[in-house]
Amino acid sequence: MTRPDTRTLGVCYYPEHWPEEMWADDAARMAETGLTWVRIGEFAWSRLEPTPGSFTWDWLDRAVETLGNAGLKVIMGTPTATPPRWMLDKYPDMLALDAEGRPRKFGSRRHYCFSHDAYREEARRIAGLMAERYGRNPHVAAWQTDNEYDCHDTVISYSEAARRAFQDWCAHRYQSPDRMNYLWGNVFWSMEYDSFDRLDLPNLTVTEPNPAHVLAFRRFSSDQVVRFNRVQCDAIRAHSDAPIIHNFMGRITAFDHYEVSKDLDIASWDSYPLGFLMDRNDAPDAFKARFVRQGDPDFQAFHHDLYRTCGAQREKPANAEGRLWIMEQQPGPVNWAPWNPAPLPGMVRLWAWEAFAHGAETVCYFRWRQAPFAQEQMHAGLMRPDNEPAPGLAEAAQVAKEIAEMPAVGTAPARVGLVFDYDSAYAWEAQPQGADFDYWHLTYEFYRACRRNGLAVDIIPADTLDFSDYDLVLVPGLLTCDSARWGALRTCKGQIIVGPRAAQKTNELSIPTPMGPNAPGLRVTAAYVESLPPAHPIRLKDGGAMWKWFEALEGDAEVIEQTEDDRPAMVAIGGLNYLAGWPDEDALKRIIARAATQSGLVITDLPEGLRFRDTDTHRIWFNYAPEIVTHDDRQFAPADVVWDPLT
Ligand code: GAL
Repeated sequence: MTRPDTRTLGVCYYPEHWPEEMWADDAARMAETGLTWVRIGEFAWSRLEPTPGSFTWDWLDRAVETLGNAGLKVIMGTPTATPPRWMLDKYPDMLALDAEGRPRKFGSRRHYCFSHDAYREEARRIAGLMAERYGRNPHVAAWQTDNEYDCHDTVISYSEAARRAFQDWCAHRYQSPDRMNYLWGNVFWSMEYDSFDRLDLPNLTVTEPNPAHVLAFRRFSSDQVVRFNRVQCDAIRAHSDAPIIHNFMGRITAFDHYEVSKDLDIASWDSYPLGFLMDRNDAPDAFKARFVRQGDPDFQAFHHDLYRTCGAQREKPANAEGRLWIMEQQPGPVNWAPWNPAPLPGMVRLWAWEAFAHGAETVCYFRWRQAPFAQEQMHAGLMRPDNEPAPGLAEAAQVAKEIAEMPAVGTAPARVGLVFDYDSAYAWEAQPQGADFDYWHLTYEFYRACRRNGLAVDIIPADTLDFSDYDLVLVPGLLTCDSARWGALRTCKGQIIVGPRAAQKTNELSIPTPMGPNAPGLRVTAAYVESLPPAHPIRLKDGGAMWKWFEALEGDAEVIEQTEDDRPAMVAIGGLNYLAGWPDEDALKRIIARAATQSGLVITDLPEGLRFRDTDTHRIWFNYAPEIVTHDDRQFAPADVVWDPLT
């Protein structure tokens, strides 16, 4: 899918944190390490505009010049994640409010509400001024908008600005209060509105708000991010042809990344494998203990595959392919997870090579030198605070050397398409029905099962029209499926697995008649659904179990999987399968292996921790296990990266 013709490394740098006398030496050492890119500027607003309207560009001019003269290419970040203190004097109501109605105050970062019109104009203004100044600078070769939308849970805001904007959004979407009342079912509990002005945000209600109201608010909040990002992209494009990038995060479902990406030239993300294992992983403690210094063997790959697709969303010339970067890569211990171990030697290198194997053009480490002050003083850099090399530096240098020796080739096309849909994530967060029903987690388990079977995956949006490039298509948990979507899925000539919890709701989160899944030709209905407490799995005849979720299917479709007590667990007609529950790890691996084999794909049963990804010329192996792993009579050492030429 992606065909990068270069692979490069970079680093995040904060010239404003260091005496100017150090910059030239820093730049020379970056170049010496083999780095190509340096990202700067994204938190520097208070140093660029110390008081409203008075600018001190001179230091940034000199920083760009110094870095550029060392041969580095600059990624210029817009500083809108850190509005300076004076901004609050101008707009005291620009802060986001949390669900309890409390302001999220100044004193860290991301203290703005996406719906605040005047702040959005400030963002447009500063992005435009930066682009005017640096848009044609020969050293500035890329842009980053803001920094990590939704970092610190900042997309959802219950401010007055959000309330007013939400009313407008609903008026536009539903046209009349009656229609909104009807689609949401507001007759229930007398929740009807006679005017959009009366509509409030779905927080601080006595018990749960209407899930349709929550879903609408989530869609609205996502649109606010798209709009905020778009004004910056437009402001930059008026003065620069350099590619525009945003740095997404891991496991974020607060906004639609495909939609934001429609305004970006390159999608990037910030990869912190050990932080994410500790902070954002539902795996059992034993698994976390095993991968404590390596990270989850599938988490990084999942996001590479998701954001590679995001990088293809902007309208591009025919045949242009998705562009993926890693804007921040963990270089050593971080500071923000509950525990922050150091990586196993070799992992800083392995993570970079895995990103390249999945189509990344560039991997930038975060950050050049560890800061001796403030919130992130415990976060490693490639250099220590005393300016001695930290362990990550040698590994980055090794990757740079290997890149120079390695031909840059594209990622081999994946034959499995896994649908990942932000709308479905919002819906199941609004109405989980089971304490552990999490859409991201469900999709991720499908992804992991593919990887354990040695299958490469593309993660794709639900509005994909043509699945004919895929031999196996997986559609867990999709909120809604109309006849056009069913038709599109049928363009896959191999097996299609839909479910669990798919195609059973209207787009406004109510139950349609006839009830779902209602797939053309499948003649099956989920008569009722149940969520299952952890100690109550439903065992399957062929091994493993359904857990968390199970649907009682009615109909006469062919039964492919059965529970031990003879209930249908998976049914099919001519390649279209419906899965009636959330399979445990073993059952899911088996079910996907069978469907893949039926689709003509080759399965490779991989030991825990060993993974591979094919490029056009090589199979690249990655060992995440903390010990030597044997596979096909070959041994892989911990943190091994092994290239096998493909014949
Ligand atoms: C990222 C963020 C960086 C820095 C880093 C620390 O989430 O973009 O600014 O805070 O985490 O790991």
